[in-house]
Amino acid sequence: MRRVLFSVFLWSFVGAQDLTDAQIGVVSARLGESALQSWELGTRAQTILELNATEYSVLTSKSLPPPRAISSSLVSGLDPFFAIAKAVVSNRTAANNRTTGPQPLMPDGSAADPTSIGVSVLLANWTGQDSGQVDYAGAALDQLDYILYKVPRTSDGAISHRVSQVQLWSDFVYMVPPFLAYYGVTTRNRTLLAESYNQIKLYRSYLKDPTQGMWKHVVLGSSGNDQGFWTTGNGWAAAGILRVLATIRESEYAHTFKNEQGDLAKWVKEIHEAVYPHLDSTNVFTNYADQPATATGNFYDGSSTALLASTVYRASLMLNQHTFVPYAERSRRTLFNSTSFPTSNATASFDGYQHLTSDGWLTPVVNPHSYGQEGSKSAEAQAFVLQLHAAHRDWVLNGSKGENSAKNMLVSKHAVAFAALIGSLVCWGW
Ligand SMILES: *[C@@H]1O[C@H](CO)[C@@H](O)[C@H](O)[C@H]1NC(C)=O
Ligand SMILES: *[C@@H]1O[C@H](CO)[C@@H](O)[C@H](O)[C@H]1NC(C)=O
Ligand SMILES: *[C@@H]1O[C@H](CO)[C@@H](O)[C@H](O)[C@H]1NC(C)=O
Ligand SMILES: *[C@@H]1O[C@H](CO)[C@@H](O)[C@H](O)[C@H]1NC(C)=O
Ligand SMILES: *[C@@H]1O[C@H](CO)[C@@H](O)[C@H](O)[C@H]1NC(C)=O
Ligand SMILES: *[C@@H]1O[C@H](CO)[C@@H](O)[C@H](O)[C@H]1NC(C)=O
Ligand SMILES: *[C@@H]1O[C@H](CO)[C@@H](O)[C@H](O)[C@H]1NC(C)=O
Ligand SMILES: *[C@@H]1O[C@H](CO)[C@@H](O)[C@H](O)[C@H]1NC(C)=O
Repeated sequence: MRRVLFSVFLWSFVGAQDLTDAQIGVVSARLGESALQSWELGTRAQTILELNATEYSVLTSKSLPPPRAISSSLVSGLDPFFAIAKAVVSNRTAANNRTTGPQPLMPDGSAADPTSIGVSVLLANWTGQDSGQVDYAGAALDQLDYILYKVPRTSDGAISHRVSQVQLWSDFVYMVPPFLAYYGVTTRNRTLLAESYNQIKLYRSYLKDPTQGMWKHVVLGSSGNDQGFWTTGNGWAAAGILRVLATIRESEYAHTFKNEQGDLAKWVKEIHEAVYPHLDSTNVFTNYADQPATATGNFYDGSSTALLASTVYRASLMLNQHTFVPYAERSRRTLFNSTSFPTSNATASFDGYQHLTSDGWLTPVVNPHSYGQEGSKSAEAQAFVLQLHAAHRDWVLNGSKGENSAKNMLVSKHAVAFAALIGSLVCWGW
């Protein structure tokens, strides 16, 4: 009992589970090396903004579109971000076999995933990178026309996640709607903001399970269905919805989308309410949240755990939704836990860490290229570690709202345990 109480105090007063600046550098380096697929590049781009250029992240910027002139303090942080847009757009003609007109930013069997790079391309155009030598606006337009007019849809208008057949994946919500919404703010096109909301609404109507509340992973199509509640997919959905909500909210059209903003906020909460009851005492989700780690093909997954926790801090910051903050805190403290915490920001080593390898890879993780299997060295998991770090940092900077509910919860849990102990002592006749 005393040890439990002691650790409660330890948790309250020591920011032990904060990764150091040097560790963040290592995790970022692993992300940079491993992000090669289209959605990995798009996710990495968004992560750079959340971590190192918050003025340009929709989750934290003050109003949209953002300043065209980049302040000198952000130039180096944004370098790797714009490098992604430049590499992709410069190589596009060769990679897409000299296609002209509507086309994805990169070739991919997924219709949706290349779209995720689009926000970096829009910002490269908006801030005038490469003085007009690279046609960012043209590449963004081709990507928009491709996803809107070339990719097949369901009869009610949901854009397919796949090129070869109409199929809907929860991942889509992170890959496409944030781009549509951002295109809407840089070109002052309200219709595109409305469409970003509409696609989320359609995807939810197909993927959200009416009783479970969680989102299924893959529906429709002749093969490759996955009716399971893939935990990362629920994270992709929550994170994508938050980005769209933030984009709409900071746009000049915010006042014309009141109900839509209310829906989006509700849909984030709904995912958290459905998924968090499945977090067990390890504080790490399983790959399919409702299945125990012992179920065939299931295992613990730090990747989705990090992503979902980051969305909880964001929902607390953006929407005053604090209910699941204690759960996110538990997950974060577990993923970033160590038997010997660094004492200086210059410490890059991960000695003593259970969930980060000595090279800074999150573990255990789902194989991001084969979602039913455990893997290692996941690019998206590296991104989610950084998103979690950044979301927690921003949440602390804004006063750690909802933390008290965490303390109250712990205290009340311990009070219950204490009462039970006294009760049993009394029973034993003390
Ligand atoms: C963020 O900035 C830090 C400090 O400059 C750097 O070490 C790290 O690599 C950057 N992370 C990313 C994802 O760009
Ligand atoms: C550029 O496109 C070619 C295909 O034409 C591809 O093999 C190569 O990996 C691409 N390079 C980059 C940096 O994307
Ligand atoms: C590229 O286009 C040419 C001409 O249309 C075609 O012959 C070739 O098969 C295409 N290559 C690929 C890899 O799509
Ligand atoms: C590109 O930037 C210009 C401003 O320089 C802006 O007017 C235009 O709408 C942007 N295009 C896109 C596709 O965002
Ligand atoms: C908004 O974007 C859509 C899709 O590209 C386009 O059809 C429409 O003309 C645009 N509206 C305005 C006002 O530019
Ligand atoms: C921080 O908290 C204040 C007051 O609770 C809120 O108005 C503000 O929007 C928050 N800031 C951010 C960046 O979310
Ligand atoms: C952190 O690890 C220690 C053992 O090194 C363990 O006692 C503690 O419960 C862990 N904390 C969390 C939040 O996982
Ligand atoms: C490390 O640096 C961050 C800011 O970059 C600061 O908030 C934190 O307190 C520092 N931690 C230590 C242990 O010095």
